[in-house]
Amino acid sequence: MDEVLDTDYIPELADPYCNKDNPVIVTPGRILDARDKIKDGVVRTPCTRTRLSDRIGCNVYFKKEFMQFTGSFKDRGALNSLMNLTEEQRKLGVITTSAGNHAQSVAYQGGKLGIPVTVVMPKTTPLVKINSCKDLEANVILHGDRFDEAKFRALTLRNERNLVYIDGFDHPDVLAGQGTAGIEIMEDVPDADYIVVQIGGGGLISGVSVAAKYINPNVKIIGVESERCPGWHTANEHRRPVRCCSTMNGATQSIADGLNVLRVGYNSFATAQIDKLISVPEKYITTAILHLLEGEKSVVEGAGAIGYAALLSDKLPEVKGKKVVCILSGGNIDANILTHVIDRALVQEGRLSRFLVAVTDRPGGLARLTDMLSDLGASIKDIGHDRMSLPSHVYMAAITCTIETRNKGHAKLVREQLEQFYKNDLKWQQFHDDNALH
Ligand SMILES: Cc1ncc(COP(=O)(O)O)c(C=O)c1O
Repeated sequence: MDEVLDTDYIPELADPYCNKDNPVIVTPGRILDARDKIKDGVVRTPCTRTRLSDRIGCNVYFKKEFMQFTGSFKDRGALNSLMNLTEEQRKLGVITTSAGNHAQSVAYQGGKLGIPVTVVMPKTTPLVKINSCKDLEANVILHGDRFDEAKFRALTLRNERNLVYIDGFDHPDVLAGQGTAGIEIMEDVPDADYIVVQIGGGGLISGVSVAAKYINPNVKIIGVESERCPGWHTANEHRRPVRCCSTMNGATQSIADGLNVLRVGYNSFATAQIDKLISVPEKYITTAILHLLEGEKSVVEGAGAIGYAALLSDKLPEVKGKKVVCILSGGNIDANILTHVIDRALVQEGRLSRFLVAVTDRPGGLARLTDMLSDLGASIKDIGHDRMSLPSHVYMAAITCTIETRNKGHAKLVREQLEQFYKNDLKWQQFHDDNALH
């Protein structure tokens, strides 16, 4: 891995609000104060029981933070931190680094308050998030491939232009702002047994856990990370925030891009009250996004869906029969990435399969195959007919076929029937489990 630009160890680039040696613990009082300050500037999102509950075997409530104006809960912390600036600071403006949602929120809330906003984003940020910041009239600077490179640039500019740097997951006012979601959850589901909260840098879970436990000390907080970026697990092991070993190059990055934070926040780590911590494999995140689309009619990005993904995995047996709140924390996902996600989720669910089969090249050979598929209720999505790839079989043609099936059981039945007829001439494509590759 290239050398990391760790601004925390460069004195002139240190962030005074996020001091590794002197972390701030955010109190319930600070969150209640944030609630009063931001209540007219954020959406009071619904938190309602979902029909997907039956699939999971517990009462699941979704806190729909993707319904915020910019599509994520980050509108809360951004507004609270801007409301707490002095007049002088408001005039000069703020700067931040973000791979997306926090930047959009600061841009949006800053625009409303007339505060100049500069955001530095890694060049790898999803297009939808870059364009949204530009539309919100922030000064957008694309710099470096990684978060640390963008942050280095932002802190340098902060010094040059005398701006305030607002850390997206560790500024105490950001934590307090995110905590207001916890107050609303407890107002709507006061007897919740569990709240499942996703973790990137830890701003959301620290605010929500403090607020929720202040209102109902019995509620349990489950923290969820992406298996590809176990920042909180790593911090627990070392008893302080340190970088997890994740390389975060394009190939290994999680679809939950909002959670790809290598080192969690100092204030977040000191503040959060977490009862259980788990990490979720990638395949559950894609499946969760598909379920939320189909079952909840909601477009939710990977980071937003990971709490529900945790319920789909086998890592939370204790929630069966309980009242569980999941935060659908954001909905900003590129349309083209969404189509990739849907295809992969359909494969996971046995609703898309592919095979290669050699059929006789005599009239009726292809018809025989399509008739069989039709009788079995499988729908052809894509089909290719090729004579050249079987050079030593003059009377055979190779067919590549992608079919849609109802579920894994149906796919198995179709496969067995085709195997019975075509025997060794059929090759069913095995899709690797992503995790086996890395
Ligand atoms: C949609 C979404 N959910 C969750 C998170 C994680 O929040 P935090 O970094 O405060 O842990 C992020 C962070 O960007 C996000 O964009």
